[in-house]
Amino acid sequence: MKNNIVLIGFMGVGKGSISRTLSKMLDMLVLDTDDVIVSMEKREIKTIFKKEGEGYFRDLENKVCRWMAANIDHTIIATGGGFPIYVDDVKALGRVIYLKNSFKGIMDRIESSHNPKKKLKKRPLFKDQKKAKALLESRLEKYAAAADITIDVEGKTVAEVIAEITEALKPAPVGTDA
Ligand code: S3P
Repeated sequence: MKNNIVLIGFMGVGKGSISRTLSKMLDMLVLDTDDVIVSMEKREIKTIFKKEGEGYFRDLENKVCRWMAANIDHTIIATGGGFPIYVDDVKALGRVIYLKNSFKGIMDRIESSHNPKKKLKKRPLFKDQKKAKALLESRLEKYAAAADITIDVEGKTVAEVIAEITEALKPAPVGTDA
């Protein structure tokens, strides 16, 4: 299996900030699947959705996943919220960590950030909050199934989440089945 650490979870759970802090702590580089797509396409995600439709974006996510599975190792991979839902085998990329939060927890986090409007505007699937909540609920089981490790991040600081992740990543002591 690949040695990447793959962060999955709904929009706004904090995959970006957690990945950047983990990167400094573990001295590993970070790749963000959305950033790779933006750089391939030279346009923003919301423009890709608007001009080409969601299916085109999901095809790009699958392309990025295949490329990463073939070429990327020892890296932290932050994924878009729909990545583990639409790509065939996210586990092929490495250890998958699901950052889990409730819709209220996500909204609280976004609203207490320094630019909540910008955070919502760049995400086409977050335009309508009722629909976003239903989307999160429809994905819960799939996130859990895609994950090797689930971390409940609700109400926790970045430092608390990082501590839980590093604990969960520790190798099991010799002689145990865990
Ligand atoms: C999406 C999440 C976004 C981005 C795109 C679609 C989704 O990434 O990939 O807008 O389907 O949940 P973030 O989770 O980084 O916002």
